[in-house]
Amino acid sequence: MKTATPVVLPSDPDGRTPRHVAIIMDGNGRWAKQRGLPRTAGHREGVKSVRAVVEESVRRGVQILTLFAFSSENWQRPRSEVNILMELFISALRSEVRRLHESQVRLRVIGERAAFPEKLQHRIAEAEALTAENSRLNLQVAANYGGRWDIMQAARRLAAEARAGRIDPEEIDEALFSGYLSFPDLPEPDLFIRTGGEQRLSNFVLWQSAYAELYFTDTLWPAFDEAAYGQALDDYGRRQRRFGLTGDQVESVAPVSRYARG
Ligand code: FPP
Repeated sequence: MKTATPVVLPSDPDGRTPRHVAIIMDGNGRWAKQRGLPRTAGHREGVKSVRAVVEESVRRGVQILTLFAFSSENWQRPRSEVNILMELFISALRSEVRRLHESQVRLRVIGERAAFPEKLQHRIAEAEALTAENSRLNLQVAANYGGRWDIMQAARRLAAEARAGRIDPEEIDEALFSGYLSFPDLPEPDLFIRTGGEQRLSNFVLWQSAYAELYFTDTLWPAFDEAAYGQALDDYGRRQRRFGLTGDQVESVAPVSRYARG
């Protein structure tokens, strides 16, 4: 029989505030349709929710916020909608970056950015350079991103290392593999939120969300304000995270007040 190994819980400093929140911002199109507006009006309104969630994250002490802004599959949308989304990203970068910098937010874009218009790539690089030293909140915008793409690009780079003789395939373990994913230096998401009523992961941070708490809400993204986000954070604070252990084991290593609320 296997002897019990010491119980170690990953991540999550006080058990109440998620260190890393990942969000699928869904429902912009429906929000606009309900108001007889073009879908793109929903995306524009969605920028306000991005602002609200960033500000609330800073207030509540969330350290990393990863937002799914544009998936690898979104290129298949009508050309006009894709164009407007690109323009929106460019203008949001222009209008928001200074404010983000003043709030000590570090901005990073994850995904295959080479497919974006030159102007957008240039703006992204500038914004990342300007905010690189900030540490109050890491804001990661996933653009032309897919969870499978992320795992695949890591596998491809690892295979190249192995072919070059720099890595022995036998030494590949989860920790080594994780080091080749999109944000190897940051902890994995603790809380995964999806707005807009659907209950699926849609190819977002798949590997990294293995132990994330899932939170689904019917609220459409443009209506997801500070209060709605606060409710999601509070809900997280009441959950007990077990990481495959029993409830008793979790309580024996972490006081009830830290890990098992409500
Ligand atoms: C999903 O709603 C939303 C998107 C594909 C785009 C998200 C973009 C923003 C919120 C704009 C700004 C973002 C940043 C980071 C500046 P949907 O169009 O799929 O809505 P539907 O399901 O109701 O059709």
